[in-house]
Amino acid sequence: MARPYICLLALAAVLLLGIATISRSRGLRDKAHQSAPRIPSQFSQEERVAMKEALKGAIQIPTVSFSPKELNTTALAEFGEYIRKVFPTVFKTSFIRHEVVGEYSHLFTVHGSDPSLQPYMLLAHIDVVPAPDEGWDVPPFSGLERDGFIYGRGTIDNKNSLMGILQSLELLLIRNYIPRRSFFIALGHDEEVMGVNGAQKISALLQARGVQLAFIVDEGSFIFDGFIPGLKNPFAMVSVSEKGLINLMLQVNTTPGHSSAPPKETSIGILAAAVNRLEQTPMPNMFGDGPTKMALQELANEFSFPTNLFLSNMWLFRPLVSRLMERNFVTNALVRTTTALTMFNSGIKVNVIPAVAQAIVNFRIHPAQTVQEVLKLAKDIVADDRVQFHVLNAFDPSPISPSDDQALGYQLLRQTIQSVFPEINIVVPGTCVVSTDSKHYLNLTTGIYLFNPLYLQPQSFRTVHGINERISVQAYERQVKFIFEFIQNADTDPKPVPHLHEL
Ligand SMILES: *[C@@H]1O[C@H](CO)[C@@H](O)[C@H](O)[C@H]1NC(C)=O
Ligand SMILES: *[C@@H]1O[C@H](CO)[C@@H](O)[C@H](O)[C@H]1NC(C)=O
Repeated sequence: MARPYICLLALAAVLLLGIATISRSRGLRDKAHQSAPRIPSQFSQEERVAMKEALKGAIQIPTVSFSPKELNTTALAEFGEYIRKVFPTVFKTSFIRHEVVGEYSHLFTVHGSDPSLQPYMLLAHIDVVPAPDEGWDVPPFSGLERDGFIYGRGTIDNKNSLMGILQSLELLLIRNYIPRRSFFIALGHDEEVMGVNGAQKISALLQARGVQLAFIVDEGSFIFDGFIPGLKNPFAMVSVSEKGLINLMLQVNTTPGHSSAPPKETSIGILAAAVNRLEQTPMPNMFGDGPTKMALQELANEFSFPTNLFLSNMWLFRPLVSRLMERNFVTNALVRTTTALTMFNSGIKVNVIPAVAQAIVNFRIHPAQTVQEVLKLAKDIVADDRVQFHVLNAFDPSPISPSDDQALGYQLLRQTIQSVFPEINIVVPGTCVVSTDSKHYLNLTTGIYLFNPLYLQPQSFRTVHGINERISVQAYERQVKFIFEFIQNADTDPKPVPHLHEL
């Protein structure tokens, strides 16, 4: 790859020139950068055992969000006590302020020594989706370890991030770390059910305090391994945009009647035909109008012939690439607004034609479309006035965050990926197809980056919200290492290579 090579050469030049000038400017420099020496991310055997045991303990607390109104508040309260117990240093450090928001969410303000640096924020969430025992190799809230993996609901989504953040901070503090750049840690308790009482309240509080953030890092994207057919190596994707969402209820009302003399069309029949049309008519392919095209161009050289040729000549092959993307259900979600039929309710008795039929359709909106545009398209596709539309909830896709050389958050993630995952050659900007708490913080920053420092294979992707969700002990250790390095990287001058004339 050309870029890192050039960077290395430039770095060598800087070092050489630096040695020549250092004797002249030492005094001045030391005053300007009184930065503490870097703390290596090496952990003792005891610390490594403690960190995985801490994660297991977190998995064992069933912080389930069943619905927006039905959360396990006993477990959420217990979780608050748990983090106080396992991360005592975080809670007793004088430059860290801890607040409980919305009863069960937690906000930490870590005051850095240099107030001229704009703060950033790390996000994670406490709650998990329900997990009935059926199908699991070990009970979902047991946190049991098997063959090097810790099993349980929340091991990937998202107690790994939450515990990883607090764990790295705890380990840094024990090593007498003092940050230069201030940062916040926001742990929402209802992310799985829209985050209205957690993230939304934390955001309101920070907005009231006039906080502006350099960037935010949240879950939502991974090091993808084996998702794209024909791609030789895994690659890291940092999502710079998040899809929007509509939960749309369709309803048909007809006169009820006896099944012995049925009308030509029933509420069930009309509604079934409507949702079938929606399923059979995908929303338009928007390939080229989001970060996906940029990502593929950067990935071009990772493919063999002829895909590499197609991807590096998008001006010519764009229609072909866009059709190829549609073929796979994962990549299809990147190029269009997806339409998923998730609920269908009607009927009460075997011989009664029901008066009402209801269905719910879940749309995930591509960054190039809006809620209004998708609703209009859906109405045109259904094309039946007997079907009523009720929007249960909806939000537009998030704006695309910058990923250029000046984008601090993106470049810090990239730098940390390169040091902690040296085997990864490629970091690309992407679109997050799931929904995260970060959407509540749009007023606080223009840089929202979604990245979970973990390898994800298609088989592990299915465990998120599914069965046998698990994380390897080694992967969790690497996650802690990543955050440990990231927090320190955020203190240093982000520009990878200073220009020569600045010396
Ligand atoms: C809620 O959490 C508590 C303990 O934290 C647990 O004992 C209880 O079974 C949980 N309730 C449900 C419905 O999951
Ligand atoms: C963002 O700020 C605007 C203007 O102050 C306000 O009306 C809006 O509610 C805020 N949005 C969120 C999600 O906090």
